[in-house]
Amino acid sequence: MSRPPLVPPLKCQGIKTKLVSVIQKIAETREYSRWIEPFCGSGVVALNVQPKKALLCDTNRHIISLYQDIQRGKITAATTKEFLTSEGEKLKSQGEPYYYEVRTRFNEAPTPLDFLFLNRSCFNGVIRFNRKGKFNVPYCHKPERFAQAYVTKITNQVRQITEVLRSVDWTFEVRDFRETLAMAEAGDFVYADPPYAGRHVDYFNSWSDADEVALAAGLGSLPCDFLLSTWHSNEFRTNSAIDLVWSRADFHMLKREHFYHVGSSENLRHPMIEALISNFPTIEEAAIVRPVEQPMLFALDSAA
Ligand SMILES: C[S@@+](CC[C@H](N)C(=O)[O-])C[C@H]1O[C@@H](n2cnc3c(N)ncnc32)[C@H](O)[C@@H]1O
Repeated sequence: MSRPPLVPPLKCQGIKTKLVSVIQKIAETREYSRWIEPFCGSGVVALNVQPKKALLCDTNRHIISLYQDIQRGKITAATTKEFLTSEGEKLKSQGEPYYYEVRTRFNEAPTPLDFLFLNRSCFNGVIRFNRKGKFNVPYCHKPERFAQAYVTKITNQVRQITEVLRSVDWTFEVRDFRETLAMAEAGDFVYADPPYAGRHVDYFNSWSDADEVALAAGLGSLPCDFLLSTWHSNEFRTNSAIDLVWSRADFHMLKREHFYHVGSSENLRHPMIEALISNFPTIEEAAIVRPVEQPMLFALDSAA
């Protein structure tokens, strides 16, 4: 029996919890000695694939700092519990002003635990920074957010991650994807999950057409396998990058329907077709694995 997916303590828009089983199934068909993620985000994919060796990068230094601190034992399940319990009590008694006090404190002198507090008590659990690099997500309006059960849940997530990190050889680094791709060698496997073009315009998630083109060029010239996830279409529109950038004869494409629970607007909550693009043919069996609790239709497609 397969184990339930491991859930990271951080939430973020575009989190691939429901796609992990498919990515995992595809990765299992390939031989590789190091897993590389240029856009690791919440880390949910690596945490579930659990490669022995990995390079996990992101430009968001707050995400990387949190994982580095867990890795070096500076943040533990116990320190997380203590912190969230005491900060949660202040939130309960002072309400909204306390959320904004922590947000200001974080923006002046960021710490990974304040980042975690904000991520788990902000509106919709998104990670969003303004153009000056300041966290600007409003309050979720739940003063009792850090009730004991919720703190225990987050604490257990930190504990599980700590256990994984003890058993693997992973490196977390703040890097732009161009630098990360330049570090890839033969025998690596790159999983790329970039921000969606035109959807996010904030400090860590701004993503231009030029970025998309540079990513395709970088992935296309890698000395190893890659798998990229991006959005294909939703009921309103189709991602123009699919035709313009990703429909190369040497790339393969698998499409599947996917639903996001984390989103800053209702628009992001509509079902969407996700595309998985690779430089190797993905086996059909991989398409049969359904996202967790997600009996959806899928279509198999090839860009070749
Ligand atoms: C769609 S999210 C990744 C989500 C992740 N796969 C998950 O399941 O949680 C995209 C990530 O790319 C990061 N990012 C944005 N621009 C970047 C860049 N130029 N280089 C590296 N990372 C970048 C963002 O900070 C964000 O964490």
